[in-house]
Amino acid sequence: MKIAIGNDHAAPELKLAVKAHLEERGFEVTDMGCTVGERCDYPDAAAAVCDKVTSGECELGILICGTGLGMSYAANKIKGIRAACCSDYFSARLSREHNNANVLCFGARVVGEGTALDLVDIFVDTPFSGDERHQRRIDKITALENR
Ligand code: RB5
Repeated sequence: MKIAIGNDHAAPELKLAVKAHLEERGFEVTDMGCTVGERCDYPDAAAAVCDKVTSGECELGILICGTGLGMSYAANKIKGIRAACCSDYFSARLSREHNNANVLCFGARVVGEGTALDLVDIFVDTPFSGDERHQRRIDKITALENR
């Protein structure tokens, strides 16, 4: 599975830890974030990662800023993106099972590295349930994009 990852200046170190973890697990990671010492705006990283997801080049995206919030606001403006800002494992699991989220966001100033790596593992390892009632609700979210 290919995963796109992005970050702003609040999270280059955590991004590198997540990237190394995913690569160790055998995932191919496309890094669209900025490096240590650089400053960058979270909407730019969100757009770059989400474009990789909506184009089909990457199956899932991960976005890390200070809180995860700015990344999720930006990502959820993009058609086809369902971005989940999570700092707990239950939400990370349900974001996949029920909402078929395709982007995970979290904050480097909110969660430590251990929690971040577990959130990532849960997110990439949990499939969408495929349940009809969940799909119906996701279709309604998609319909909102065209209002
Ligand atoms: C940058 O200082 C900070 O505002 C950003 O990383 C993020 O937390 C925004 O939501």
